[in-house]
Amino acid sequence: ELPYSEPYKIKMVETIKRSTKEERLKWIKQANYNLFNLASEKVFIDLLTDSGTGAMSDKQWAEMMIGDESYAGSSSFKKLKKTVKKITGFNYFLPTHQGRAAENVLFSAMVKEGDIVPGNSHFDTTKGHIEFRKATAVDCTIDEAFDTSNMHPFKGNIDVHKLETVFKKYPKDKIPFVILTITCNSAGGQPVSVENTKAVSKLCKQYGIPLYFDAARFSENAYFIKKREEGYADKTIKEIVKEVFSYGDGMTMSAKKDGLVNMGGFIALNNKAVYKQATVFNIMFEGFITYGGMNGRDMGALAVGLDESTEFNYLESRIEQVAFLGKKLVEYGVPVQQPFGGHAIFLDANKFVPSIPRDEYRAQALAIELYIVGGIRGVEIGTVLADRDPFTRKNRYPELELVRLAIPRRTYTNNHIAYVAATLKNIYDSRDEAKSGYVIVDEAPIMRHFTAKFSKI
Ligand code: F0G
Repeated sequence: ELPYSEPYKIKMVETIKRSTKEERLKWIKQANYNLFNLASEKVFIDLLTDSGTGAMSDKQWAEMMIGDESYAGSSSFKKLKKTVKKITGFNYFLPTHQGRAAENVLFSAMVKEGDIVPGNSHFDTTKGHIEFRKATAVDCTIDEAFDTSNMHPFKGNIDVHKLETVFKKYPKDKIPFVILTITCNSAGGQPVSVENTKAVSKLCKQYGIPLYFDAARFSENAYFIKKREEGYADKTIKEIVKEVFSYGDGMTMSAKKDGLVNMGGFIALNNKAVYKQATVFNIMFEGFITYGGMNGRDMGALAVGLDESTEFNYLESRIEQVAFLGKKLVEYGVPVQQPFGGHAIFLDANKFVPSIPRDEYRAQALAIELYIVGGIRGVEIGTVLADRDPFTRKNRYPELELVRLAIPRRTYTNNHIAYVAATLKNIYDSRDEAKSGYVIVDEAPIMRHFTAKFSKI
């Protein structure tokens, strides 16, 4: 069998600047050791996020020239609406400027104070939009997801028993919907199987509760189904996607991921009454219903992006590139979460730098070291992100201290990836020298990770 290869060649390039270790030491200090505070030109390889950082194709760029910028009824809107229907099967569609905006609009129509929204490790903004409405997000992810070395093929799955317990505990009118995130970002980009989706859907129907998808990485989820789930090897990605969505009532989408665009999002759903309610909020928060915060040209590019991201050859090169990084790190002995996620590799800082005390933010220390040594920017998913307990104001120590290396789509070559792996090998080989980490000298009362200032111990 022949190896996979990218189903595209490069037509335009963007210069990225290499820098010296001395320069980076100075810059990161000036940035108060917060990677969010670094100017992008001071970063060589940027793995902060896979959101909005992908490369568009020539066909998408062609759409940028023929975008219809009419306020109402633009042809770009019609193009996107048709594609969303074709790919997802959902009847109603509302564009929004990004994923959290779709959450804001849909949840304004559906979530009220005191509600319970079960799901599989809700993403931060999803949880934020639930809690902002004084409702509660209940995590029903399977227990296997919390063990970084458990090789379960679908660690994004919902534990159906946990879900049923929630359904039995609260009255139906307190549970506006279940939200199933595919792939599950907070569980490490882990997929949800068709079997699990069907079981969740069946239980939801039994209790009369709608099922919505947080579908930011739905194509990547379908790729894992094709590769790992029995009975799906011969189905096309588009067939799998259609089947998965057929078990739900609707979806919110951050198009910055599997939409292959730099900005955009949408809601798609079947319930006309919910659509009508959401329409009001879309007009209030986003814009008229035929653009909802997006340019016509961006809607055209998204229509093409949805088609491209649901092609097997693209997905194979994308997900195998992420795995390429994972495999190299495993080969070097670097501790990473397994199985590898669809969009990112997660370094296990508890195993990588156990010599740095937890209250000195070891995952943050590792992320800073990766920048200093190689000019590579990842993101801490550990104690800094977990923030303080709102009542005791003490640091919350999550079970896992991770550094996420998110891979943008179609952006970096495997040479870049090999460079990242080699840099990490270097750091890992001298890990015993790491003895101390950082203290926080200034932080915001919530969401401190974006703006916190650190100082080196
Ligand atoms: N849902 C999931 C699963 C996400 O990963 C994100 C964003 C959103 C919703 C919100 O979408 O950014 O378009 O408003 N995730 C990015 C990340 C920020 O880096 O993982 P958005």
